[in-house]
Amino acid sequence: MGTMLRRRGLFSIALVLLLLLAAAGSCAAAARLSPNYYRRSCPRVERIVADVIAAKQRANPSTAAGTLRLFFHDCFVNGCDASVLVSPLSSDSSPERAAEINLSLPGDAFDAVDRAKAALEAACPGTVSCADILALAARDLVGILGGPRFPVALGRRDSLRSDARDVEGNLPRTNMSARAMVRLFASKGLSPREMVALAGAHTVGFSHCAEFAHRLYGFKSADGYDPRLNPEFALALQRSCAGYRSDPTVSIFNDVVTPRDFDEAYYKNLPHGLGLLASDAALWEYPPTRVFVQRYAGNRTAFFEDFAAAMQRLGSVGVKTGWQGGVRRRCDALD
Ligand code: HEM
Repeated sequence: MGTMLRRRGLFSIALVLLLLLAAAGSCAAAARLSPNYYRRSCPRVERIVADVIAAKQRANPSTAAGTLRLFFHDCFVNGCDASVLVSPLSSDSSPERAAEINLSLPGDAFDAVDRAKAALEAACPGTVSCADILALAARDLVGILGGPRFPVALGRRDSLRSDARDVEGNLPRTNMSARAMVRLFASKGLSPREMVALAGAHTVGFSHCAEFAHRLYGFKSADGYDPRLNPEFALALQRSCAGYRSDPTVSIFNDVVTPRDFDEAYYKNLPHGLGLLASDAALWEYPPTRVFVQRYAGNRTAFFEDFAAAMQRLGSVGVKTGWQGGVRRRCDALD
């Protein structure tokens, strides 16, 4: 009789545990991003981020492009979880930011997020994740540059780890073929169309000469530069980048026609050999991506609609929700 009771007791405990686990599982699965996520806990979140970010962009106009690239580099490595924001100074190990490909991410972009976080910690302590702040900041800055406005679903949780070793293989390189880039984006759930739309971010910002110098000097061709480059453009780049080894900060606008405007000029440039990076040129040469380059070159509305939709998809890549991760107190550190 005693044994029976004990067994029944054990059975009930196991049942309760099972039910709890099932509930936790379904909650985690049900946890979705939502535009109203902070409606009760921090109702002014969007206004607070928008004000801080606009002021930062006014003071440092390179913030916008840098933050857009920062968002992309965050989302492609273990999801949009703010893991790229952790400063190497804040930890003994080497975080994502210390990976070679992330070293050119500009300090102003990190500073923009840190400032918005400070304002939010004052208004709603311990509530808004750094991952959500980065998503909002990137969206706001696209709008400030003249690009599309779109809603940002919220509720991302921050990663509680960041490791430089996770970066390799998750971000595109300029020497990748369009086919390889399509594969990489597909591994993040993004289609060729979304990839080409997102690459339109290269309508703003800079690239350092080191990223495309191989196209300019000692290239195996009759003229010594990449024949896919417009000849006048190639000669001008050769001159501008001549000292890049002694001064590695020398950079060139990604879109040499309308460098500060978020518009479709990036796509218009590609058929004319005015794409700066080899990876930009590759999008024009590969038929499955060329069709979208052609579409966006001739239709700003189509580009803006697709860019807005693709940014929302990018912002949902690998997000942590529910009990995963946490809300970090600081964006540049893991606590
Ligand atoms: C498709 C493959 C891509 C490749 C190979 C690539 C590569 C690069 C490289 C090498 C730079 C120059 C960085 C520097 O020298 O500082 C750059 C800049 C930039 N990239 Fe990409 N990128 C790609 C896609 C994207 C996407 C999807 C976005 C955002 C949605 C993006 C946003 C930017 C921005 C805004 C800049 C300018 C950054 C600044 O001015 O600080 N890129 N990219």
